[in-house]
Amino acid sequence: MADLSVEYMGLKLRNPIIVGSSGLTDNTESIRNLEQNGAAAIVLKSLFEEEIVLEKEASISRMQSGSSLYPESLDFYQYEDTPAESTSDYLDMIKSVKSQVPIPVIASINCMTAQQWTWFPKEIERAGADALELNVFMLPSDMDRSVEETEKVYFDIIGEVADRIGIPVALKISYYFSNLANMIRKLSETSIRGLVLFNRFYSPDIDLDNFEITSGSVLSSPGDLSLSLRWIAIMADRVKCDLAASTGVHDGNALIKQLLVGASAVQVVSAIYKHGGERIAEMLHDLESWMDAQGFNNIGDFQGRLSQSKSGNPAAFERVQFMKYFRGFTG
Ligand SMILES: Cc1cc2nc3c(=O)[nH]c(=O)nc-3n(C[C@H](O)[C@H](O)[C@H](O)COP(=O)(O)O)c2cc1C
Repeated sequence: MADLSVEYMGLKLRNPIIVGSSGLTDNTESIRNLEQNGAAAIVLKSLFEEEIVLEKEASISRMQSGSSLYPESLDFYQYEDTPAESTSDYLDMIKSVKSQVPIPVIASINCMTAQQWTWFPKEIERAGADALELNVFMLPSDMDRSVEETEKVYFDIIGEVADRIGIPVALKISYYFSNLANMIRKLSETSIRGLVLFNRFYSPDIDLDNFEITSGSVLSSPGDLSLSLRWIAIMADRVKCDLAASTGVHDGNALIKQLLVGASAVQVVSAIYKHGGERIAEMLHDLESWMDAQGFNNIGDFQGRLSQSKSGNPAAFERVQFMKYFRGFTG
């Protein structure tokens, strides 16, 4: 029987399937079910930077308005960083999940700045999370903001978080960079241990009957795999951290393809929303059958074999125009 174990960010995983941050990972019962279906790790539902900041501000203002306020208590609060409400719920959840499932638990924070919330990762580490994933995203729609300003935020966040905690930190990023390959490489040369390519975003759509803006599909489809497949293939041998594939991994074949181009692990969300936790077991079964048929004993026997620099057809990953098909394509 093939050995499916992999290493991601220094975490030993029994197989390459991680359940991505979502409503699937916001409660212990669901996480237990995912684990029983074979998930090797889970990324908890994200806490938003704003939630961390707002709670702290609310708590400080409660102290300031309280009749028994002593100035020292405010100082104490600022230095001790006592979390409250949803932040403490989040820490409780980490402890609860850790006590009930044996797989690594990766906490997650959605953030856009390197200010005011960056005390919280230390609390996450203390609560027992095995790693932290930072979902960093700013839509580059502000025409007055330079590329340098936007990109600097990522490195500021890394400096405030990844450099200051002991557990491994991954960055989950978008593909909206002026020079994506260069940015991915620069990020990988920092203290982060993993990059998750890529996040999926809310996308607007139009209701033609009611002249309204609506939401595009929340869940991905299998065809969405190609974006991360291309970029993992291009970057796999050029980065100094692990790469995890996210978006469009819906079945065992997609999992195998991502491993072949060099992913260390994949994150799965939409396929589980659509098909239930059993989809994880099916994907693992398909991976194992394929490895047996190919005579592979370990993931390392084939991982990265088709990355851009190792494949026999490196140009395929950089081809962007359908020249051959546009001429005489008949459908
Ligand atoms: C309902 C839902 C909730 C999500 N919530 C989060 C979240 O809190 N934090 C995050 O980083 N990603 C979140 N995501 C994005 C997923 O983690 C994942 O990156 C995305 O769905 C692409 O993977 P998929 O094609 O397997 O669905 C969410 C996705 C869905 C569908």
